[in-house]
Amino acid sequence: MPQPSARRRPLNAPPRWLKPAVHLLVAMPGLFLLAGWAELLFTNPASLRLSAEPVAYTHNALGLMALRTLVATLAVTPVHRLTGWTPVMSLRRMLGLWAFAYAAVHLGFYLWLELDFSLAALWAEALKKPFILFGMVGLLAMAPLAATSTRAAIKALGGRRWQALHRLVYLAGIAGAVHFILRVKGFQLEPWIYAGLVLALLLLRLMPSRRRASRASPQPA
Ligand code: HEM
Repeated sequence: MPQPSARRRPLNAPPRWLKPAVHLLVAMPGLFLLAGWAELLFTNPASLRLSAEPVAYTHNALGLMALRTLVATLAVTPVHRLTGWTPVMSLRRMLGLWAFAYAAVHLGFYLWLELDFSLAALWAEALKKPFILFGMVGLLAMAPLAATSTRAAIKALGGRRWQALHRLVYLAGIAGAVHFILRVKGFQLEPWIYAGLVLALLLLRLMPSRRRASRASPQPA
């Protein structure tokens, strides 16, 4: 029996499972950390689930998730352009918000456990350790993007200004990758892989798109 047309989904609408599945995937590392801390605090203080140094492990896991979700956010538009798969665009805003959430919790955890919530101490650390300064730049670049991720914000700012503002996502990606490069001692490949990914995605974004002119209107996804 045919469905009433009011309930029919548009042909290019994302499949219903897509957003919940991506939310679950991105939330999993955070849930793993929560479970690890619950075990340490309430049932087994000797647990090694979060390694022998759970505080350092948590700083790094939150930082990595912030960077990974940021890279995934940057990848959305190039993936759409290369594959033509429109539903992927519906993931851009949620991935960006996840990246900001992980980065904010990463900073919150650091402020709480290392600096006793002192912003003056954070600034002193940033002046002493350049990697902290780059982390701050990354987070500060992400904050206005999170704050203007709604349709109402696009309307209030106007499409062009909103798009120009949202180019800050590349600054956030570069600052996050440099933060990681400077944080490790000696040469390690992993931070350079993230830096390479951010640069490659930036270059892909700068390449002219054949259909860009006809799709100029911005979307919060
Ligand atoms: C004010 C902002 C930030 C502060 C204070 C900060 C601080 C830190 C600290 C203390 C560490 C651990 C260092 C260690 O254990 O030696 C760290 C690691 C890290 N942070 Fe941040 N961070 C900030 C923002 C960011 C942002 C915005 C990103 C990504 C977008 C990020 C990604 C990372 C990564 C990838 C690591 C290393 C992970 C690893 O080694 O496995 N951080 N950060």
